[in-house]
Amino acid sequence: MNETHPISIAIDGPSGAGKSTLARLATTLRFLYVDTGAIYRTIAYYAYANHLDPADEAAVLAALPNIRIELCHDAEGLQRMILNGEDVTDAIRLPQISQYASVVSAYPGVRAFLLEMQRDFARKGSVIMDGRDIGTVVLPDADVKVYLTASVETRAKRRFLELQEKGEPTDLAKIAADIEDRDYRDMHRDISPLRQAEDATLVDSSNMTIEQVVERILELCR
Ligand code: DC
Repeated sequence: MNETHPISIAIDGPSGAGKSTLARLATTLRFLYVDTGAIYRTIAYYAYANHLDPADEAAVLAALPNIRIELCHDAEGLQRMILNGEDVTDAIRLPQISQYASVVSAYPGVRAFLLEMQRDFARKGSVIMDGRDIGTVVLPDADVKVYLTASVETRAKRRFLELQEKGEPTDLAKIAADIEDRDYRDMHRDISPLRQAEDATLVDSSNMTIEQVVERILELCR
């Protein structure tokens, strides 16, 4: 890693396009992997745990001063989320939290609250930052920008297999419908909607293995 000029790789795309791939890529490059969706999920989890209505923008914004978020990485480089001292890494993956996150992330006050926090990671060292508006808003000067996507069917199937492995009851059609719902909200909100930055390279992972995606992004970095 170059300490004087940290390198930043911005990856945007819809949910489920390949987070585990990016964590692996970060380990290869010895960069910090920052999953910004997990940060939005942590705010969503706070709202959920404190019985706030996610649709009540004023209530969510009023809660922000009570939210202290820390991000740490375990021995395998995987990101863990700490909310007011409590590890919420697993809790933020609950399906209700996905829906809450999609709602609260549309609030300009929430996005402003997290903007500098995200930029700070990229100032301190080389990062692979993954989200919806990294190449367009958070790190517009990123060295490499990728728009990583996959078809709804592919993403739903991947999620289905993940949940099956964990022994959680699943329904493929429901997963696909949830994904479509969130895609729509993420792409149609007024502030920082998900879109491909003009200078980003499109990588469609629908018919690619994890190794192929890693190799393709490494190729773009070179
Ligand atoms: O990537 P994910 O599914 O864990 O993200 C959770 C939600 O957070 C998703 O609905 C979109 C939102 N998000 C965002 O608005 N901006 C980001 N940079 C990352 C995620």
